[in-house]
Amino acid sequence: MSTLELDWPADTGEKSAAQDTILSVNNIEVIYDHVILVLKGVSLTVPRGGIVALLGANGAGKTTTLKAVSNLLGAERGEVTKGKILFEKDEVQALSPNDLVRRGCIQVMEGRHCFGHLSIEENLLTGAYTRTDGAAAVKADLEMVYNYFPRLRERRQSQAGYTSGGEQQMCAIGRALMSRPKMILLDEPSMGLAPQLVEEIFEIVKELNDKEGVSFLLAEQNTNVALRYATYGYIMESGRIVLDGDAKALRENEDVKEFYLGVGGEGRRSFRNVKHYKRRKRWLA
Ligand SMILES: Nc1ncnc2c1ncn2[C@@H]1O[C@H](COP(=O)(O)OP(=O)(O)OP(=O)(O)O)[C@@H](O)[C@H]1O
Ligand SMILES: [Mg+2]
Repeated sequence: MSTLELDWPADTGEKSAAQDTILSVNNIEVIYDHVILVLKGVSLTVPRGGIVALLGANGAGKTTTLKAVSNLLGAERGEVTKGKILFEKDEVQALSPNDLVRRGCIQVMEGRHCFGHLSIEENLLTGAYTRTDGAAAVKADLEMVYNYFPRLRERRQSQAGYTSGGEQQMCAIGRALMSRPKMILLDEPSMGLAPQLVEEIFEIVKELNDKEGVSFLLAEQNTNVALRYATYGYIMESGRIVLDGDAKALRENEDVKEFYLGVGGEGRRSFRNVKHYKRRKRWLA
C-alpha cells in the first residue's frame, strides 16, 4: 500500500511546523466565451495533507474554480485571465491536464462520469493510464482501492452503468486513486446520494487523507457534511470568496448556521433569492 508519509492534525486544526502548501490559487479571474466573467478574484490555499471545502450554492463558481486548478477550462471555452495558480512549485496554466495528473493533481468530476459500458474494474484501470511503474504496481493499487471501497470489489465485474449512484461515485474516486494522486479535486461527491451513503463516502475521504496523505479540495453544496470532514472552508458566492475560516469556526458562525446549515434544498433556493442582499451586506461590511 502506498503511503506519502504525511501527517495532518485534522482534528485540532493545528498546523505543524513541517506543513507546507500544496495548492495556492492567487486572485484568479475566469472568463467563459471571452465575455462571461465568472470568477472575480478568487484566492485559496490547500495545505499539504489538508481537506479544504469550497462551499456555495448553485452557480457560485465552485466547479469553475476546480477546473481552473486542473486546467480543464479550455474544453469549456473558459480561460484564466488574471491571477496565478501554483500546484507545488509549478504554475498550473503552463501544464496540460495530463501533466498535472502525472504530477499528482487529479479532478473527480461532478456527476461521477464512469464509463457506463465498462466494468467497474475496467473503469478503475483506466485511471492508471499515466502510470509507468508497471503492471505489478498497478495491481497492488487496485487492491488498495478495493480495500478502501469493499463495495467495488463486490461489483468489480459489473457494468458500471448498471451500478448505483453511490457505487459510481466510489468508482470515480477509486479511478482517481489509481493515478496515485497527491491531491484530489473532488466536485460534489454528495450529489444525489442518500445521507448514509454520503457519510460512507466522506469517511473514506477522511481515511484516504489520514492513511495515504492525499490532500483534498472538495466542492460541496452540502455544507453540513463538508464542514464536519474538512479542516478549513471557503464560502463562495457569485464568483467571489465571501467567508473563510477553520471548519469548526465556520460551523459555529451565525451567518453560516442561518444560511447554510440545517437548510434543505428548497430552503436554500429561497434564501438565495430573498436573503442574498442581507447576507452579502453582513459578510462584506
Ligand atoms: N461553459 C460555461 N460557459 C458559460 N458559463 C458557464 C459555463 N460553465 C459555468 N458557467 C457559469 O458560471 C457560473 C458558475 O458555474 P459553476 O458551475 O462553476 O458553479 P458551481 O458553484 O459549481 O454550481 P453547482 O453547485 O450548481 O455545481 C454559473 O453562472 C454558470 O452558469
Ligand atoms: Mg458545480
